[in-house]
Amino acid sequence: MTRVLLTGAAGFIGGHIHTALQPEYDVVAIDALLPSAHGSGGQIEGIATVDVRDRAALAEVLTGVDVVCHQAAVVGAGVNAADAPAYASHNDFGTAVLLAAMADAGCSRLVLASSMVVYGEGRYRNRAGEQIAPGPRSRGDLDAGQFDNTDPNTGEILDWALVHEDSALQPRSTYAASKLAQENYALAWSLATGGSVTALRYHNVYGPHMPRNTPYSGVAAMFRSSLEAGRAPQVYEDGRQARDFVHVTDIARANALSVAAALPGFTALNVSSGQPITIGEVAAALSDACHGPAPEITGQYRPGDVRHIVASPELARERIGFDASVGPADGLREFATAPLRDAEGTGAPSV
Ligand SMILES: NC(=O)c1ccc[n+]([C@@H]2O[C@H](COP(=O)([O-])OP(=O)(O)OC[C@H]3O[C@@H](n4cnc5c(N)ncnc54)[C@H](O)[C@@H]3O)[C@@H](O)[C@H]2O)c1
Repeated sequence: MTRVLLTGAAGFIGGHIHTALQPEYDVVAIDALLPSAHGSGGQIEGIATVDVRDRAALAEVLTGVDVVCHQAAVVGAGVNAADAPAYASHNDFGTAVLLAAMADAGCSRLVLASSMVVYGEGRYRNRAGEQIAPGPRSRGDLDAGQFDNTDPNTGEILDWALVHEDSALQPRSTYAASKLAQENYALAWSLATGGSVTALRYHNVYGPHMPRNTPYSGVAAMFRSSLEAGRAPQVYEDGRQARDFVHVTDIARANALSVAAALPGFTALNVSSGQPITIGEVAAALSDACHGPAPEITGQYRPGDVRHIVASPELARERIGFDASVGPADGLREFATAPLRDAEGTGAPSV
């Protein structure tokens, strides 16, 4: 039986992957149970408390492991500069230690949780259909309520184009920088050792057991939490930001397919639903499903947020046979009443 080491097994996504891998695989589940994610709770049954930065502890759990499915990370928008050392420590350094320990143990296959944030701004085209790569949006424009990216030559508003895996990688936040660093270390490791890496670039993940409203949780959970408190979901910018919301059970299946596919070399794949939706539409769908107040478009913004990012699902279909089975209409309706992870761990991450 193929043995899989699953890191971040106590997390939102790791928990669903744990379920998806069983009973076909022999899963060794580990998690550091970071207080920022889990509060001060103790052990979780079936999950060994191991920090991926601890090479000696990894040596023990890597015995006989064929594939590592690496989900452990500090997550969030990465907009607070004070959190940079925590992202660098758990994500960059943690991945570097894990890769070294895998080389020590003779384990040559990695499935890595990457993210759409490695792309920064998605891809854009003007009315003539030309591809344009806009720079970061200026604070002046954002303060003035000009949220769209514009063509630097003509000033016309740019429409989004699908992001393929060979698009430019331009992280715009500390978190994004650390997710790209994980990919870069993994690529270098694969070249140096001949090992294989499938880096799954998840788009906006949502679903049961998503962490509740914290500055570090995803927007769908923030909307849910507002609605539970009887308040209108607060939508940044003008609500027309386009995204791809992919259900966590589909993310888990993409991981299982990657473990089974054993692609050679380094392969990065978008994992998305293939059904773009705007943030305003997500908020409206949740308000409707909860019979709650209609969303409020605030015109506020978060520095480092990108305007649009919509994935092409083609390569994942071609390479690992992945097609999302839950679309946003059904998934968000179900999510409106799904259980969420408790808000104990609302603190900032620490090193
Ligand atoms: N949730 C999303 O929308 C999303 C999108 C793209 C990518 N991702 C990636 O998916 C992965 C899982 O994210 P999630 O949403 O389940 O987050 P989560 O916070 O629920 O889970 C992450 C888990 O990693 C553990 N962890 C952190 N640092 C660790 C360390 N040094 N050693 C061992 N365990 C450690 C935490 O305790 C936590 O249980 C992450 O790599 C994240 O970057 C998530």
